[in-house]
Amino acid sequence: MKHSLIPSVVAATLLASAAAPELAAQKFEGLALTPPMGWNSWNTFASNIDETLVKETAEAMIANGMRDAGYVYIVLDDTWSTRERDPDGNLVADPDKFPSGMKALADYLHERGFKFGIYGCAGPRTCAGFPGSWGHEFQDARTFASWGVDYLKYDWCTSGTANAPDAYKRMSAALRAAGRPVVFSICEWGHNKPWEWAAEVGHLWRTTGDIMDCYDCKQRWEQGWKVILDLQYSLVQPHDGQNNGIGQYAGPGHWNDPDMLEVGNAGLTLEESRAHFSLWCMLAAPLMAGNDVRSMTPEINSILVHREALAINQDPLGKQGWRYYADSSKEIWVRELSGGDWAVCMLNVGDTAAELSIEWDRMYFLPKGAAVRDVWGAADLGRTAGTLTRSVASHDVLFLRLTAPR
Ligand code: GLA
Repeated sequence: MKHSLIPSVVAATLLASAAAPELAAQKFEGLALTPPMGWNSWNTFASNIDETLVKETAEAMIANGMRDAGYVYIVLDDTWSTRERDPDGNLVADPDKFPSGMKALADYLHERGFKFGIYGCAGPRTCAGFPGSWGHEFQDARTFASWGVDYLKYDWCTSGTANAPDAYKRMSAALRAAGRPVVFSICEWGHNKPWEWAAEVGHLWRTTGDIMDCYDCKQRWEQGWKVILDLQYSLVQPHDGQNNGIGQYAGPGHWNDPDMLEVGNAGLTLEESRAHFSLWCMLAAPLMAGNDVRSMTPEINSILVHREALAINQDPLGKQGWRYYADSSKEIWVRELSGGDWAVCMLNVGDTAAELSIEWDRMYFLPKGAAVRDVWGAADLGRTAGTLTRSVASHDVLFLRLTAPR
């Protein structure tokens, strides 16, 4: 018997449209199976951004090994647009800063193996007073797609009494409707417990206010990395044994974001930069470099591209580390890795160098007799048994990878 073609075409079309949202969703899954890595303009350049800076940064990241180490998202933060939308309500790139336009800039980056990120805001104005996407979400998502945007950091200033999950869901839906896969970075500073609702909405969410380049200073809005580290521990209670607080919410495709890196910036010593980086690796944190990568020292460069450190950050199991021990001299953080391996990071919180110890036998959850590798020292330190004692500089770390006996 011969079937008419028409009903099956209609049926196929109907099926396709029913499946469209699902297909769109699939494009967004798998975008951040490990924590996203890249560079963001804000920490060093704030409003001093333009296309020359972006291009020079990209070239530097090719030459210094960052791109090939995985730092592929180049993200323009706040202040990239004109002060007002155009008469049709579109966002417009500031023609003085970006005379070639965003599409050309994205093409430039894509041709060199990078992905292009941009900043927006859920409120009517960004934190620096530029147009936000409130009421323009679908239009702006289409604009971003037409420019070739691959990553959107979406802020929360001027949001008033808006409901955060709803506002972020709206932009998430708008990005999916625009059809271009975009890593969606939620930046409401942890005010609305995003760890409880954002895994379905975006790929990473800020847990805290803004970072600044100091160890543990505190300003009204900005704070040093150690203050942020403490908050990762205390934001979610209770803690008992291996209940790792906020870490339980992280995993492949959805990450806690303790904010961008200050590694290499002036307010940190080399030891504090190295420790900051190590602990962000322990936290399975997104690694968005925030320094001037065109002029960094070789020591800072080698921290950022360190293969063994990055393997811990990018471990495919995607489990966030947790603070196992803290006293007035040291903290010990631990992180389970794939294949039964573990990472252990001991931080000297004191003001002077100190002999610090790890008592392996107390850490019942670690594999017995694991091989101990000193990541920064590039040395093998025997096996986990008894006590390991090392001299650690102030605010520096002993960063270890344990390989389970196979
Ligand atoms: C907020 C964000 C920062 C940065 C600025 C830009 O403070 O948390 O990361 O994007 O806005 O104005």
